[in-house]
Amino acid sequence: MIPFLKQYLRKYWYFFLGAFLCLILTNYLTILIPLKIQTIIDYYPKASESHIFPHRALLGIILLALGMLLVRSFSRVLMFYPGRAVEHEIRKDIYSHIMSLPQSFFRKNSVGDMMCHMVEDVNNIRLMVGLVSLHFFNTFLIYTFSLYHMFQIDRYLMLIVMSPVPFILLCVRVLSKKLSRYTGKSQEELSRLTKCTIDFLSKVSFIKVSGSQNFVQTVFDEINGTYETSYLKMCRIRAQMFSFIGIINTLGHLVLFVVGGKMLTKETLSIGEFVAFSFYLNLWAWPTASLAWIIHLLQQGRASIKRIQNIMKNEPPLEIKVSSSFDKKTLPVHLEVKDLSFSFEKEVLKNVSFSVLPGKSLGVFGVTGSGKTVLANVLAGIEKAPEETVMINGSFVEKWSHKEYQNLLSYVPQSTFLFSQSVCQNITFEKSFKENKLLEKKLKKVAQVASIDKEIETLAKGYDTIIGVKGAKLSGGQRQRVSLARALFKPHGLLVLDDVLSSLDSETESMIVDNLFGGECDATKIIISHRTSILSKCDHILVLDEGRCLAQGTHKSLLLEEGLYRETWKYQRALLS
Ligand SMILES: Nc1ncnc2c1ncn2[C@@H]1O[C@H](COP(=O)(O)OP(=O)(O)OP(=O)(O)O)[C@@H](O)[C@H]1O
Ligand SMILES: [Mg+2]
Repeated sequence: MIPFLKQYLRKYWYFFLGAFLCLILTNYLTILIPLKIQTIIDYYPKASESHIFPHRALLGIILLALGMLLVRSFSRVLMFYPGRAVEHEIRKDIYSHIMSLPQSFFRKNSVGDMMCHMVEDVNNIRLMVGLVSLHFFNTFLIYTFSLYHMFQIDRYLMLIVMSPVPFILLCVRVLSKKLSRYTGKSQEELSRLTKCTIDFLSKVSFIKVSGSQNFVQTVFDEINGTYETSYLKMCRIRAQMFSFIGIINTLGHLVLFVVGGKMLTKETLSIGEFVAFSFYLNLWAWPTASLAWIIHLLQQGRASIKRIQNIMKNEPPLEIKVSSSFDKKTLPVHLEVKDLSFSFEKEVLKNVSFSVLPGKSLGVFGVTGSGKTVLANVLAGIEKAPEETVMINGSFVEKWSHKEYQNLLSYVPQSTFLFSQSVCQNITFEKSFKENKLLEKKLKKVAQVASIDKEIETLAKGYDTIIGVKGAKLSGGQRQRVSLARALFKPHGLLVLDDVLSSLDSETESMIVDNLFGGECDATKIIISHRTSILSKCDHILVLDEGRCLAQGTHKSLLLEEGLYRETWKYQRALLS
């Protein structure tokens, strides 16, 4: 925990030093007030006899209180600032780290977990940095100053009044172990609840029409209930700790009244000294009672740091920045795949081999679940290719830097994803094209190649129209074509399209296919599709079945062989005619 915090807090050391000095001054002033009260009580009777009211002592108390107010506020500002700054920095680091992690990480960790780390855990660390340090310093100073003054008044009485302290420490030790266990448990349950809420909210429209409301409600109630139970258990332990400490602290006052009272009657202690002693004991009350809360924050923060460290342990595999210069020219690549096998729990690609020359196209065909998307994900670098299986321009992909590789590649996944921004932003990742003629020209060109240009112009604000959450204002086919335009806009030497034209009517489909194969895109192309009409345009076709390469060849050669491809071609032709 300490090395983790040190790397963020090191540069704020002067804030802590300033806060510490302010706290010394605050506590010093606080301690002086009981001394002034003692003066008033012990000397007031003599002063009233001589008709002199202790104005100076009263004025002193007022000035001390004002001074305390000022330095106390300063100490808070100085102590809480690093917490806020560190919160911002840790959140930024987690975000960029998570964004750079491989797909395997996202299979094991849900979005809910990420949300918990970004919001809840980072907040816990802020509380730990600000409040825990403040209370730690404050308690230390209050104890030191008041013990010193009690010692000055009567060391015997001080030792007796201090006698409950070992019990407080024992109670804190026993209960804090329990508290730590329940804090971890309740944080886990909160993470589960967040995960489930995000999952259900993202499928709200499906839940409404599928009649699964009751099922979803039951699951949600169960997880919500478990979180409530674990949180309440944690609160119960915290409350027990709070009251135990409170009771034991009150014992100190009891001892003061019994022993100090006797000393008063024997006149070995003045009334002023007795009152000052009682004030010092009261000064301990809040720091001692809040020990339970501080320990809770400390443990919560420790658990959060552990969780964040677990994520940060996952080394980011690759540099994630990709060149944004849209007007760069990229040459078509030579792609070779040799004996590629890939597994999740089971093997889903088995010894697949093929080669595509620069500027040529490969069609990938296969029944559903045959491994087409997994192959596309491996080629796009989303799933890590086993070593020495995928080669670009004669060099294995593991030798390429992520940046170099991503600058060569454009990928349109099977399930389109769009940002809730304008059409222009979704295609170009630029705010607007108005000031940049070159950008405007390229944007309109790719929209035309993707056959979406005319439909964009009919939208309320054309290219500036905001397309709603995940592109909700567009049809499925329009979303696919905006995604295709985005891939074409980015400079690329390898274009991978995973079933991108599946939602289109045959006329739009053939327009796009004509554009892609008619010289508008000179990149090397991998086109995954169930439609033989599209695949027939490719230079070479690969037929996959249960992850194996069943057959490969040109459209003509595959039609000469008995098999899945020929059967599907015949069937789809019959449907069209
Ligand atoms: N993340 C994953 N974890 C485990 N198994 C997976 C994962 N993704 C895909 N698979 C498995 O890999 C196999 C191939 O899936 P893939 O998505 O590549 O099929 P596909 O050929 O693209 O099918 P479709 O035509 O329906 O898109 C399937 O058996 C699938 O269950
Ligand atoms: Mg697929």
